[in-house]
Amino acid sequence: NTGFITFDPGFKNTGIVKSSISFIDGEKGILLYRGYPVEQIIKKCSFIETSYLLLNGELPNTEQLNFFSEKIKEFNSINHKIYQILDKFPVFYHPMGILSSLTCILTAFTDYINIKEEDMFLHLLAKLPVLAALTYRKKVGLPPSYADKDLYYTSNLLKMFFSIPKKCYQINPIITDALDKLLILHADHEQNCSTTTVRLLGSAYVGLFSSISSGISALWGRLHGGANQAVIEMLENIIKSGGNINKWVDKAKDKKDPFRLMGFGHRIYKNFDPRAKIVKKIAEKIICELGIHDPILELAKKLEKIAIQDPYFIEKKLYPNIDFYSGIIYQAIGIPKDMFTVMFALGRLPGWMAHWKEMRLNQEPIGRPRQIYIGYKKRNI
Ligand code: SDX
Repeated sequence: NTGFITFDPGFKNTGIVKSSISFIDGEKGILLYRGYPVEQIIKKCSFIETSYLLLNGELPNTEQLNFFSEKIKEFNSINHKIYQILDKFPVFYHPMGILSSLTCILTAFTDYINIKEEDMFLHLLAKLPVLAALTYRKKVGLPPSYADKDLYYTSNLLKMFFSIPKKCYQINPIITDALDKLLILHADHEQNCSTTTVRLLGSAYVGLFSSISSGISALWGRLHGGANQAVIEMLENIIKSGGNINKWVDKAKDKKDPFRLMGFGHRIYKNFDPRAKIVKKIAEKIICELGIHDPILELAKKLEKIAIQDPYFIEKKLYPNIDFYSGIIYQAIGIPKDMFTVMFALGRLPGWMAHWKEMRLNQEPIGRPRQIYIGYKKRNI
């Protein structure tokens, strides 16, 4: 009897939880983190303050922020056996696959049993950037670089990525600021695919680290967080094929062609993604401040201008989403394409954990949707 089952593929109109973490108004292009507009958070808060806000519901006072930051510094080393396991991964394996695996393995090496529940979130906030930097350095053939206890979180992240042995790493505040803002913009986004994945695993009582590991895997998909890498590859292909933007926009409209304009469209935003507007400004600022001539940025701006005036894109309400310009900034910072989604995961981590914590505090039932059965009637062999 399917009388009571609502058929809603992709959960387009299904509210699966009650949450107080972030709010999106897709028609008006509004995003709030614990009630604060993301535009204000970007101006007034750091990523660490934003992480505290998402996890605890309020912005930290000075004492709370210092304690939170010190704990993260205390927890930012990892068991040396992880380094040996990392060496076993084939170099061609995608960094998102490595990061997801290492995050799951962390459970075994973080004396997980004795961690206080509230410290688990701090352990992961501290350790994920270490794992991400290790993954990058393995790819480029650099030895591990360790966190510097005197550096702010995002500066440490850049140092762990890019420092060269025996050379003093120069912190560039322009780059630290741009990356910190990008991490904030990715920090939470209600029930997107990867966040719902994390909640679903948590609802079955899967531990935090393994739930986050699955969130990382879900984010990897090119229709989700993998789009930032796909955008740059698409823009590079447009340049390689002679730069005829209209040809590619027409291709994206052709129903017989599976190609879609990557970085465009959103399930919720039927107006501009407020994050995309901010990311575009950060991209223009950092390209100018670093004195980079980036044809990809110019092409992206031309493509956006043509697409948003195209009747098909207007009718389907397709606008640039957060992934359309973010890759341009990562590239300007020196992060390679296949690490872009890793950066998205580092930003989304506090949001994933806040949702896992909320699900546990609410003692939500195990997630177990129904289906509309269209198979054979009962029959005998
Ligand atoms: C993220 O959920 C979140 O909040 C995600 C995220 C987050 O912070 O967690 O915001 C991050 O994942 C951003 C999205 C990144 N993905 C991309 O940029 C990939 C390209 N975009 C599309 O694949 C698509 O727009 C989605 C996946 C983002 C949304 O897909 P929906 O909501 O399921 O919409 P749909 O596929 O049903 O499309 C509706 C129509 C279709 O045409 P019709 O069948 O009605 O004729 O719009 C068309 C689609 O063909 N369409 C596009 C298009 N996106 C949708 N046509 C061309 N190019 C596109 N990009």
